[in-house]
Amino acid sequence: MKNSLVSKMIAAFTSITAISFIIIATILSVWFQNYYFDQRKTQMDKQGQLIAESVKSYLNDPQQEISLYRLRMNMAFVSDLVSADILISDSYGLVYAISNTKYSDYLSKNLGIKEMDELRFGRTIEKKGIYDKVLDKVVYVYMKPVFDGSSFRGVIAMYTPVDQIKTPLKRVYYIIWISAILAVIICSIVIYYFSQRILIKPLSQINAVARKISKGDVERRVNIDSNDEIGELADSFNTMADSLEKVEKNRREFMSNVSHELRSPITSIKGFIGGILDGVIPKDKENYYLTIAYEEIQRLTRLINDLLDLAAMEAGKFSLRISELDINEIIKLCVIKFETKINDKKLKVDVVFQEEHLYVAADRDRLIQVITNLLDNAVKYVSDEGNIKINTKIKGNKVLVSVFNDGPSIPEEDIKHIWERFYKSDKSRTSKVSTGLGLPIVRNILTQLGEDIWAENKAKDQGVTFIFTLTKI
Ligand SMILES: Nc1ncnc2c1ncn2[C@@H]1O[C@H](COP(=O)(O)OP(=O)(O)O)[C@@H](O)[C@H]1O
Ligand SMILES: [Mg+2]
Repeated sequence: MKNSLVSKMIAAFTSITAISFIIIATILSVWFQNYYFDQRKTQMDKQGQLIAESVKSYLNDPQQEISLYRLRMNMAFVSDLVSADILISDSYGLVYAISNTKYSDYLSKNLGIKEMDELRFGRTIEKKGIYDKVLDKVVYVYMKPVFDGSSFRGVIAMYTPVDQIKTPLKRVYYIIWISAILAVIICSIVIYYFSQRILIKPLSQINAVARKISKGDVERRVNIDSNDEIGELADSFNTMADSLEKVEKNRREFMSNVSHELRSPITSIKGFIGGILDGVIPKDKENYYLTIAYEEIQRLTRLINDLLDLAAMEAGKFSLRISELDINEIIKLCVIKFETKINDKKLKVDVVFQEEHLYVAADRDRLIQVITNLLDNAVKYVSDEGNIKINTKIKGNKVLVSVFNDGPSIPEEDIKHIWERFYKSDKSRTSKVSTGLGLPIVRNILTQLGEDIWAENKAKDQGVTFIFTLTKI
């Protein structure tokens, strides 16, 4: 099962290479055979011409002895050269000269071939495998007519046993096929080696790491450094593992934060109420401690509501109801809600609008939540008797809303963390009234609206401005 991919691949590639090499070897063999016979034919034709000349001078010579001797010499020479036995006949087909005594039975007899007429017309005859009684073998026969001017004077016939011709051919076939088989074997080995290196090993590494990660070992990574799709897969896999690790870390952190945030108010509520029930707290102080317990319960309620809001937002359960809103009107509405707190802290609130009405596309309830959270922070972190400034202005197709308050600036190292859940930059001062969930909620809402928010410090401890964008209509 585990090796099925590699065996499938090797089977496929080996079949492909085997088929290719078989085709190549077959083509080569056929081509070589044709080439070999062609060569042989050309050679026989050329040498046959030499004999034809001797035949002509023999036939035209009144003192035939010398030219017959020369003819025999030539026949012996050519016979040796092209390794064929040579027979010569007159224009009627009667054999009168042979190069090898084996053929003495043929002497003074007819060549016995049907193609005599074709030869008479000047054609050469080639027979690739006929049985010869004398040699008791299959032979290759090449016949060439002899012409003196335009008159037909006879036939030169050359006989070669086929197995003799095929001996060198066989050697070539042997070499071709052995090379083909060797090539297939070498290719298979190379394919096996490379598929192991390039595919199988990296894949099984990724597989092994994936199993470890799924068992909770989220710090595991694959270590593959190749410049191809497998390398890309490994990179994507590691990126996925990174985010998995981050999610896992976030989840743990979140759980411990939530537990901590829930435990501290519950502990103090339990302490106060327990104290009252036990009678440890004097009767006249009961009211005081009950008030504190009540405040703690309020804080718990707020915390739980915020948590539920965030969870719902992150689960994508809030559908936004986008409508046309006057942002200026909403700001005025929110400021009024903070009137008591503003008066208590003796704050000076400045609201500046670029235009009387500014229409934007947003969800009304969510937008109120954003502004309320920002104002809540401003009122909470502003110095006593300080200033809060809210203004809206148009920039292109956006409306910029900024909320400024006097007071200490947010330390530079904290400014990018304030958007994280439960993050509170000044832990001691804000712990009582803080949840650290306000800004994450704000950011979440604005992200869903497709808008942006950022914080800017004025000069050192000269205050903080939160600015967010909205889409103008
Ligand atoms: N207007 C502000 N001025 C100074 N610091 C701020 C202001 N608004 C937010 N912060 C910092 O950002 C942190 C996160 O804010 P937030 O998410 O609203 O939580 P919370 O208001 O419950 O503390 C705050 O604890 C505070 O340190
Ligand atoms: Mg807040």
